Amino acid sequence: MTDTDATIARLPKAELHVHIEGTLEPELMFALARRNNVRLAHSDVAALRRAYAFTNLQDFLDLYYQGMSVLLHEADFYDLAMAYFRKAASQNVRYVEFFFDPQGHTSRGIAFETVIAGLARAQADAEAQLGLASRMIMCFLRHLDEADAERTLDQALKHKDKIIGIGLDSSEVGYPPSRFKNVFRRAREEGFLLVAHAGEEGPPNYVWEAIDVLGIDRIDHGNRALEDAALVKRLAKDGLALTVCPLSNLRLCVVKDMKDHPLRRMIDAGLKVTINSDDPAYFGGYMNENFASVGSALGLSADHLMQIARNGFEASFMPAHMKEAALDAFDQAIRSPAV
Ligand code: ADE
Ligand code: ZN
Repeated sequence: MTDTDATIARLPKAELHVHIEGTLEPELMFALARRNNVRLAHSDVAALRRAYAFTNLQDFLDLYYQGMSVLLHEADFYDLAMAYFRKAASQNVRYVEFFFDPQGHTSRGIAFETVIAGLARAQADAEAQLGLASRMIMCFLRHLDEADAERTLDQALKHKDKIIGIGLDSSEVGYPPSRFKNVFRRAREEGFLLVAHAGEEGPPNYVWEAIDVLGIDRIDHGNRALEDAALVKRLAKDGLALTVCPLSNLRLCVVKDMKDHPLRRMIDAGLKVTINSDDPAYFGGYMNENFASVGSALGLSADHLMQIARNGFEASFMPAHMKEAALDAFDQAIRSPAV
């Protein structure tokens, strides 16, 4: 382990962009397939891993939706989330805001309540057993229509105690944020915080729409915002944070080489950036691997890495008193001689 790896491992971290279904490791997928008598398209773990060679977002999404087919019962959602929480805690992740895709499950006949119950039970156990606090953000699948999103929002209303925010994910190009204007307006009126994937593969105009049409509080990815100077200015002025996912960008060919990753340019432009893992079971790394990979490719200093980790807590949707305590704990941890 290099000195930088050790620094990264010791940094307290907040993860703000992780799809819980994207944490389904092939070993658990096959175990759940056996438990639930589900037939998978690949013969074994090795064959599945070999298929994780993506050329774009859609290539990945096709396998991601297939993978979900093993999640049937409350216990499956519990096991999925608990495995991720254990891994996150082992990397000194102290706080998580995770996405889930209810339409990926309700469309297969799984009750919305089953999904929520399993995830919420894992959250409670992670907090009690691992000291890891987490909150849920429900995403709409943007390749489905707004009416489907509206029905999904209806189902979330009785779970406002558990779901803090609404997001937008899945296939980006051809599905601009403005298609979801009305359902996002209603979500805002219902008190949810709002995020959207924008500028991952889609053009800067999608980021403008996420800000001006949907009224989002944070941007997921946002890479292509850098193509539009006025947009960069706006993001900096409003202090809108970006949840950047370096290994995801590499594996989905959003960047050709990690050395081309825009994270350093984002920092230099005054943007509030965070580092996250997106779908770590598919992209070859959790939080520490994402920090290490982009950090070494771009020559980021220990101060940069520390500031990015701190941004994760600052850009989180924690209530003010909790955020203040988390930032104090962060500052104390990095002052200790071990870091
Ligand atoms: N769903 C899961 N991961 C995603 C990503 N990186 N972009 C869009 N939708 C997703
Ligand atoms: Zn994502």
